Amino acid sequence: MQASLLVIFGASGDLTRRLLVPGLFELFVEGLLPQGFAVLGVSRTAHPDDSFRSLLLSAAREQAQGAFDDAPFREFASRVFYHPADLENPDSYAGLCARIRSLCADRGIPGNIVFYAAVAPRQYASLVRRIGEAGLAVPTDDLPGFRRLVVEKPFGRDLASARALNREILSVFRDEQVFRIDHFLGKETVQNIFVFRFGNGIFEPVWNRNFVDHVQITVAESIGVEGRGDFYEEAGAVRDMIQNHLLQLMALVAMEPPASLDGGDVRGERLKLLRSVGRVAPERVGEMCVRGQYAEGEAGGRKVPAYRAEKSVSPGSFTETYAALRLGIDNWRWAGVPFYLRTGKRMARKVSEIAIQFHPAPSLLFKETACGQLESNLLVVNIQPEEGIFLRFGAKEPGPAVCVRPVDFHFSYREAFGTRSTPAYGRLLLDVMHGDPTLFPREEEVETSWALLDPFLRRWEEDPARDLSFYPAGSWGPPEADALLTAGRDRWRTP
Ligand code: BG6
Repeated sequence: MQASLLVIFGASGDLTRRLLVPGLFELFVEGLLPQGFAVLGVSRTAHPDDSFRSLLLSAAREQAQGAFDDAPFREFASRVFYHPADLENPDSYAGLCARIRSLCADRGIPGNIVFYAAVAPRQYASLVRRIGEAGLAVPTDDLPGFRRLVVEKPFGRDLASARALNREILSVFRDEQVFRIDHFLGKETVQNIFVFRFGNGIFEPVWNRNFVDHVQITVAESIGVEGRGDFYEEAGAVRDMIQNHLLQLMALVAMEPPASLDGGDVRGERLKLLRSVGRVAPERVGEMCVRGQYAEGEAGGRKVPAYRAEKSVSPGSFTETYAALRLGIDNWRWAGVPFYLRTGKRMARKVSEIAIQFHPAPSLLFKETACGQLESNLLVVNIQPEEGIFLRFGAKEPGPAVCVRPVDFHFSYREAFGTRSTPAYGRLLLDVMHGDPTLFPREEEVETSWALLDPFLRRWEEDPARDLSFYPAGSWGPPEADALLTAGRDRWRTP
């Protein structure tokens, strides 16, 4: 792979320290970064290169939470540079161009540049416009390589703004240059959904309405808003998590096999699935969702404040920190199968999983036995933190009587491969450098997801307190969410 320069706009933010740099460092340790690769952090704060590197080193030490060897990190950090600039000011871009030119010349980078928009979402459009005005979006004689743009989520705040943002970006960059990042797609366990389904012969035949009763997708976090109150007040759980991560998980679980592994085919199938998700009529939105906000409670054995008492959060806020939706898919494979999606902060524990609940077997033979009702088969894809998959089935309990008890087959990544997975951001940045868009939602995927959620968002804009209940921090969310499951027949899993 040819050397490239990664220009991170908004480099003094949390994302760079916590996710981007650790992801790149991992690639460096694994020897996956091309020779000459360099990072240029751009932000308003004035730092020389060295003090920016020191900040990154302290963050890396803090994250390691134990023994940390500075030497390889310092070697990696010698490829990291910093340029102070006020991105709102068009005059700043001439200095930035000069710095990019001199870095590329010094490090033998043939002009390949990846721009990463890690700024506040409201700045995306103006940033892209200014990159275009500065002439940085197109190759020049002295910088002839590729130009690519990575845009963080949330991509817009509803369908109209996502469309407007796509228009702005596509007036500067061509579609194949744009990488809309959703880091869940870079998780090893999420990519494995595809392999599990289409790389095995025995699961796909039962992966449909004839065998599946319902699907639950849970992304629960034990943390609160962690100092991101101002961002979260604007976003809320639906915009922050459901529009992107959860709907993408749903697409992967439910999509049809693509014609090939080619990015166009895979993205096309994800899009087709999202388009088949049933639109919820405005008068039925209330039956299909529950929102919640955490009240004070306990997390990790200590008392934690309510969301409304967090820094930069309004004391009367109606922003949801929990959301659960019931959706359906109008196609031949899934018609009539409910898909339940839920996500929340300050929940009982951190766990992301997809649970496929199968139809029960007829209990006929066993209904007179000591155990009575049979449990249905269940297949759970653990995305994190215990990466793996388990399948629950009935087994005969040892003893003279016939009694069926649920037991599990387990596959654990750690046990099977003896390794932990590569951080999602590293994997995705490598794909950007390779120019592989497979794991990045395309324009229509983003817009279709917003279109699905627009009726919900409009309802809460009209009345921000609607559908909102409170739940104690450290619980599994508001009890009202139980009513969302079909007529008391299904239950939320407690992972
Ligand atoms: C981000 C959200 O996209 O995903 C955060 O903005 C959330 O609010 C995070 O905490 C969760 O990601 P992960 O990889 O820690 O599960």
